[in-house]
Amino acid sequence: MTQPLQAYVNDAFVPIAQAYVHIEDRGFQFADGVYEVVACFNGTYLDLKPHLQRLARSCAAIDIPLPKPMAELEALVQQAYENNPFEDAMVYIQVTRGVAPRSHVVKQALIPTLIITVRELPQPSDEKIQTGMSGITLDDIRWKHCEIKSIALLASVMGKQEAVRQGVDEAFWLDGQGHVLEGCATNIFAVIDDVLVTHPLDHQVLGGITRDMVIVAAKALGIKVEERKWRLDEQGLSECMMSSTTNAVIPVCYMNKQAVGEGKPGEIGLKLRAHLLGQLQALRES
Ligand SMILES: Cc1ncc(COP(=O)(O)O)c(C=O)c1O
Repeated sequence: MTQPLQAYVNDAFVPIAQAYVHIEDRGFQFADGVYEVVACFNGTYLDLKPHLQRLARSCAAIDIPLPKPMAELEALVQQAYENNPFEDAMVYIQVTRGVAPRSHVVKQALIPTLIITVRELPQPSDEKIQTGMSGITLDDIRWKHCEIKSIALLASVMGKQEAVRQGVDEAFWLDGQGHVLEGCATNIFAVIDDVLVTHPLDHQVLGGITRDMVIVAAKALGIKVEERKWRLDEQGLSECMMSSTTNAVIPVCYMNKQAVGEGKPGEIGLKLRAHLLGQLQALRES
């Protein structure tokens, strides 16, 4: 018999089929909460501390106390991996303000709800790795605090649905001037005149942990990096690539059905992917 998935909820690990939160949880009623996704390779976490630090920042931004001290959270996340059957896994940590009779105003300090779930880490198919990803662009319809990793993901759900409807992998948000911000669940980079360019960190993008890794990798490889606003129609744009915990970094070769550069994975995207995959492999073997 396959081992049932275990989720952490209400201070205990339980089989996922019995893992419930109260109907008056403010996460359910108001999307009043934040989350994190961390990848684990053969029991070793990729950048767990930066993910938990971002969780703490997201909690602080909406005035939810961190549900456990950092060290305890780390141990729970590790336990969640061990209680589930995957070699390479993604671990979701969600924190909501807690349970209270439905009212927009929070009248008293609540006990935050903490849930942790684990799923197998999806791998892009060999075909995607060879051909690269494809995307569409959409006007940004999200709120003005995208730096907070909020569980209110309706705009991203709609964007992803539209991407799937159009037969592509990701939808990327554009600001009112046509600058490319980020994807529904990814950051995005362009190579423009051999410089790796990505939108600066502000309220319009999430500060991706993988985005940071890509920037560090680029600098280590001698690739110049600029954090600035950019557009898809810029002269000299030869490559795009998207980054996220679940994808590492992967070239995006078609955008709105038009080839990006030569319409195939470019040199810089492939170099960065190889560099990051090398780091993941080292983790797997550590
Ligand atoms: C909107 C958005 N931007 C970027 C990312 C990538 O962040 P990370 O690299 O930390 O996974 C995500 C990940 O879920 C996201 O939801």
